[in-house]
Amino acid sequence: MALLTFASAKGSPGVTTAALLFAALWPRQSVLVESDPSGGDVALRMPGADGSPLDPQVGLSSLVAAGRKSLYPALVDLHSQEIVGGQKVVSGVATPEQARGVTQWEELGQMFAELPGKDVVADLGRIGAATPQNAMLAASSACVLFVDTVPSNVIHLRGRLARLREGFGRVAGPAVHVVVVAPAKRARAVREVAEVLEQASIEVDGLHHLAHDPKGAVFFLGQVTGTPGRTHLVRSAQPIVDELAGRTEPFFVPAEELHDDAPDADEVDADEEVPS
Ligand SMILES: Nc1ncnc2c1ncn2[C@@H]1O[C@H](COP(=O)(O)OP(=O)(O)OP(=O)(O)O)[C@@H](O)[C@H]1O
Ligand SMILES: [Mg+2]
Repeated sequence: MALLTFASAKGSPGVTTAALLFAALWPRQSVLVESDPSGGDVALRMPGADGSPLDPQVGLSSLVAAGRKSLYPALVDLHSQEIVGGQKVVSGVATPEQARGVTQWEELGQMFAELPGKDVVADLGRIGAATPQNAMLAASSACVLFVDTVPSNVIHLRGRLARLREGFGRVAGPAVHVVVVAPAKRARAVREVAEVLEQASIEVDGLHHLAHDPKGAVFFLGQVTGTPGRTHLVRSAQPIVDELAGRTEPFFVPAEELHDDAPDADEVDADEEVPS
């Protein structure tokens, strides 16, 4: 069905927390795929559906090893595990060294975008000019970038957004949404981010407010049992999920079109690397 990519440009605004939360609230069947080459957190934070720890041998690394010759959709089910609450997760690589073994980011993105019957929420972690997981953006229907209210992080976000647009060139690329993580009562923070983007004439498809809410966030550290439904975090997430799910349609870019538009790797310097 569709691939949604979640990422940040700088800082740790809560991408993994939001990926867990949004996948749990997603109105269709979903799989959360931790695609952060700096190392996964879900297996370290969340217990399995039966309360025991997740198997550290099962996840993106084992999926990629099994699909070394060819990737096929059934691998996703085979290498996913159920966390408490029932969400299916392909947990991330254990270490950045292990991520070096993942070379098929573009193919992974295409496979996730075409998974029968399920949408994929992929946590890409922090994306930069040359981070390898950028290759997954090309197949995604929506790229959701998270930012906190630290002014320098907002400036870094703006720079990354500008580069992403350049990288896609004439290819339509994913819809781009920005989620500002700010205290529930500081809706003004979203307007401030909008102004910073407007100053550089950067347009996005959606600008949203997710509550900065430590009490809600601890549920996604696996530390609390109970119902997080009444927290500011979950209540602020629901309308964002509804909008994203309502606007998300499967997105397929003909491979030849992508290659026509993307300059060869040796034609761009590292700072201008395209996201595919
Ligand atoms: N909306 C939120 N409100 C309050 N605290 C949050 C929120 N989201 C995340 N946190 C807390 O911030 C810390 C970092 O969260 P998380 O790991 O989700 O961020 P990240 O952006 O994925 O970071 P990284 O760059 O390490 O991948 C955690 O302690 C988490 O509980
Ligand atoms: Mg993370």
